[in-house]
Formats: sequence, C-alpha cells, structure tokens
Amino acid sequence: MDKKTAKNLNRRLLANFMDGVSDFAEAPAHLKADIFFDEALFEREKTSLYLNAPQPIAFSAEIPDPNSFLAVEVLNIPILLVRNKKGVLKAFINACTHRGGKLADGDGYKNLFTCSFHGWSFDPDGNVVSRPQEACFHFDTSDNRSDFALTELPVSETCGVVVIGLKKDIGVEPADAGYESLASELQNYNLKTYKALERKEFDVAANWKLINDLSLESYHFPVLHRDTVAQILAETSIFDAYDRCSRWAFPWMSIGRLNEIEEKDWPEKIEGSCTYTLFPGVMLILNASGAQMIRAEPGERPNHTRISYIGLAHPETDEAEARSGYEFGGKVFEEEDLVAAIQCQKGLEASRKNLILGTNEALLQFWHRIWAQSTKLND
Ligand code: FES
Ligand SMILES: [Fe+2]
Repeated sequence: MDKKTAKNLNRRLLANFMDGVSDFAEAPAHLKADIFFDEALFEREKTSLYLNAPQPIAFSAEIPDPNSFLAVEVLNIPILLVRNKKGVLKAFINACTHRGGKLADGDGYKNLFTCSFHGWSFDPDGNVVSRPQEACFHFDTSDNRSDFALTELPVSETCGVVVIGLKKDIGVEPADAGYESLASELQNYNLKTYKALERKEFDVAANWKLINDLSLESYHFPVLHRDTVAQILAETSIFDAYDRCSRWAFPWMSIGRLNEIEEKDWPEKIEGSCTYTLFPGVMLILNASGAQMIRAEPGERPNHTRISYIGLAHPETDEAEARSGYEFGGKVFEEEDLVAAIQCQKGLEASRKNLILGTNEALLQFWHRIWAQSTKLND
C-alpha cells in the first residue's frame, strides 16, 4: 500500500475509532433463510460463481521458483500449478493423459511429473517425456506424444495472487476477475516476494456464504472474539466496495496514539488489519508481518464448505512472528468463527426464519447483492 493511501485510510480509521462508529450502510437489508440450504440455488451458485468465473486459488509465493509446484483441488477438480524452468506459471488438470492418474500431491520441486499408475512422465510445460513400453501406444510409426500433453487451464498471477479459470475460455486478469480497481494497490504489496508458510484445509458443515460472511463484518468482534481478537482490534471499521471486490479495514486498539503525532510523522503502514475480498469471496488479509488467504468454496451439499487457509510471511519480518500471526488467526477462525457458522447453519435450517443485516453489516449487504446478481446473470 502506498503512503498516500495508508495516510487516508489511517485518517478514516482514526475518525471512526474516535466516534465509535463504522462505515454504515444506508438501511438494514433482509436475506431469505433458504439461500443457505436451497439445493437448486446451491447448484446455480456453484456453476455461476465458481465453475464459470475466474478463481483466486493460491499465492504466487507458494510456487516461488522454477520447477516448483503445488497440487490442490478446486471444486473437486485436481489442479497442478507448476512454474517451468523459465519461471512461467502454468496450470494443468492434475490428471495423466493415459487414463487419468494423479501426477503430484502437495508441493515441492520437480522437473518431471511421473504418474503413479503406469509411469508416464511429463515435463513442467505439460509435454509427455516418456511412456513405459512406448511402442504399445502407436497406431502407426509416427510419434503421437504431442497429442497427449496435459490439459492446460488459463492462469494469471498479476498481483501475486494465482487466478485460474476452470474452463479454457475464462479470462483471468484482474479486469476479468472484477478487481481491476484494486490491482495497483495489491501490486504495491509485492506479494510475490513474501515467503509461503503453510496451507491448511478445513471441511465445515455450513454454507459457503456463511463462511465468507465471517470475514465481512466486525460487529461480532466484541462478543464472539471478546477474549481474542477484540483485545487487539477495534470493531470500528471502514470499507470501500468496487465492481466485484472490496477493501475493509479495522484499527488496532492502540490507533488513538495517532492523535498525539503530527500527520506528517504518521507511520507509512495502516494502523490495523486490512482485508481485500476478491470475487467470488476470497479474502486476502494483509498486515505488517504477512498475508493470509481464506478461500471458501461450495462442497458436496449446501451445508458443506471446503476452506483453504494460507499464510505468507513478509520478507522483512521475522518468520516466527509471521507464523504466530497465521496460527493465531487460524485458531480464532477454527475455534470461534467456524463454530458460529456451523451453529447458524443448523439454526437457519431449523427455524427457516429470514435474516436481517444491520447498517453496521454494510459489506455483508454488498457481497450478498453481488452473489445474488451474479448468480441470476449467469444462470
Ligand atoms: S494413468 Fe497415468 S500412466 Fe496410466
Ligand atoms: Fe471473526
């Protein structure tokens, strides 16, 4: 984040903190309870918001060097991210072109991906390099190996965030993915230079929107997180919503100290935590010691979500400090936020009572509008 933006945001954060308010919506909004358990809507959302739209799925820093790779699943589709020897990032379906075997698990470095079923091998550009008993795969004498390259998918990493399309014709640049307005600000973080710490996966018995909702309001801080987050962060937040992305920030409890310092001497970073949300609801949490990504995607049923929680360390921060921030965030998320989401899912399915979002839940209102509109548009 550049100095000017940081100063502007600090000014707004300080003003809201002193007044004990957040950036409010104009009016409360209603949501139907069944959006969290309706099967038909769930299928439409999966298609419109996930299968047919660009997907932020990882940080570039997780595949940092030539020959590094990362194998993940996105919407149950096995994906292999590989940086080739020239450093160009590629995305493939992680499936051998013989009979579909898996080529790699986890992450690491490889210059050859060998299928564990019959041993076909591929290079980081997806070309078949060798096949045991090669002659058995020839209809005539010609070498047909070029017909068996891995299935390649669109991929970009413009802001240090890896965005893929699960179909060949999906655009993956910031303008296609709805975050062009924030692209230069995100680029300023230089996320490619960060160091990958860890990636955790969670399976949760709650709808994907309830999981995203957890990271889009601070109203719950003083109650749900009374003994944890609320000890260090205030709920008085600011937000800016753009086309299909948003920026949301809340201050450290200590932000009042800025009142004692002349503005020209203010720190160059924001005095708090900043969350950028990229369509369809991927959270990028940026703070002084590192960055985290929370990606929640629809699972097997409306009340099932798969979550990836990924941590990076800032290159100039002590790695242990960044790791403790990642672990603290993960613990609070797992033991407090996710527990609340599971309870809400059960409660809403049982009561079928529609919900109200207050003016203090403005960003939730924004994202629920985006999800509803985008699902209708792409039906
Ligand atoms: S499925 Fe991969 S070598 Fe046969
Ligand atoms: Fe929370």
